[in-house]
Amino acid sequence: METLLADRTQNMGISAIREILKVASQPGVISLAGGLPAAKAFPTSILQDLIERVFEKYGSLALQYDCTEGFAPLRQALAAHLSEKKGLCASQDDVLIATGSQGVLDALGKILISRGDRVAVEAPTYLGAIQAFNPYGPEYVSLETDGEGLIPESLEEAIDQGPLKLVYLVPTFQNPTGRTLSVARRAHLADIIQSHEILVVEDDPYSDLRYEGGSVPPLQLFVPEQVVYVGTLSKIFAPGLRIGYCLAPKKVRQWLILAKQGVDLHTGTLSQALAAEYLVGGYLEEHLPRILECYRPRRKAMLDALDAGLSDSFQWSRPEGGMFVWLEGPPDLEMDRVYEEAVKLGVAVVPGKYFFTDPDRGGNTLRLNFSMPDVLSIKHAVGILTGLLRQQVGNTKVTSSIRSSGNPYPHLVRDVISHHGADFKSYISDIVMSQPGVVRK
Ligand SMILES: Cc1ncc(COP(=O)(O)O)c(C=O)c1O
Repeated sequence: METLLADRTQNMGISAIREILKVASQPGVISLAGGLPAAKAFPTSILQDLIERVFEKYGSLALQYDCTEGFAPLRQALAAHLSEKKGLCASQDDVLIATGSQGVLDALGKILISRGDRVAVEAPTYLGAIQAFNPYGPEYVSLETDGEGLIPESLEEAIDQGPLKLVYLVPTFQNPTGRTLSVARRAHLADIIQSHEILVVEDDPYSDLRYEGGSVPPLQLFVPEQVVYVGTLSKIFAPGLRIGYCLAPKKVRQWLILAKQGVDLHTGTLSQALAAEYLVGGYLEEHLPRILECYRPRRKAMLDALDAGLSDSFQWSRPEGGMFVWLEGPPDLEMDRVYEEAVKLGVAVVPGKYFFTDPDRGGNTLRLNFSMPDVLSIKHAVGILTGLLRQQVGNTKVTSSIRSSGNPYPHLVRDVISHHGADFKSYISDIVMSQPGVVRK
């Protein structure tokens, strides 16, 4: 069998995160690991309406083959949405519909990347992009980031070291860090892009999920001729419909269409027609605030629980939107171990190292998702997690509370037992009793 496989399969490893997500979906485990929208955020109550409208308007066309570029009413609706909400100048012809934004990433890899091409990505970056690009054998160049997102000078350095085929960025509420590239940095980056012949992919699935603060302009607005803007309805409608899209410079778009044609001819017409009605019928306008109301308190619960549970040895992002918080511990802290211990206590997280293209980085980081679990679960899970983290670094705050109370985790023991059953009791007791200063009575 091995001999039948194409060489490119050698670059298509099993995603460690998929394995973690299997663990995370076990009964009794609270998952901060995934990146899924909450089922509660889906507009299920309006679907019946949408379906009726679609068949009234389009009849059997909604079930027919359609053109590769996408269902015309959806392309038109998205062009209007993008210019109204994001200031992007797009006509219907500029919009290409894809099967999820993942479909655009795959097509970009296919048409742009040859073996050994240098592709620059943020460190850390979205793992799905790496999976999409890997079969084409790129050589990754890590771009440095800080609390404001990508450091523009890092891109300049990468360019100085040799030609870049592609730069892949998630500038707003990034997955995995939740960070947003500041407006000043966007302008600086645009200057760098303009003065070099490079193509940038701006992957933007999260910018509509803003819980506070003012919006930032897409990078594409600064340099439309060199930026492929990639969007999706997965986070603001439903990921199961698989509606992604892009605005790309004309030459790139033509190739993307050819690449897509060979894969699926076109994205499902019924999904596209539903999406078109979701936009033009004013449903998105009505439903988006509900999605934000669902996630806003979850984000707050996570940040509050981190504030309450961790000391200065840890740092975490405070995203104004999106679905993720990024947590960094002291350099020698191994989050792999934290992951293993957390799972035993019924909490799943993703070690951040998986989001780096360089295998030696990110060992002290974690990605935490707040869109999926409800507020109570977040408080409970982050309480357990911060307890473990403090234990790992021998935090003084914990040590002193142990000395004074004998058991710093009474609520944790009680909660875990009520959530997961008595089996965990002895496990938790062992953790508590192993703390310095705790005396077994
Ligand atoms: C940064 C980023 N890009 C792309 C995707 C893919 O989204 P979809 O294919 O559902 O549009 C995701 C999914 O979570 C993501 O986080």
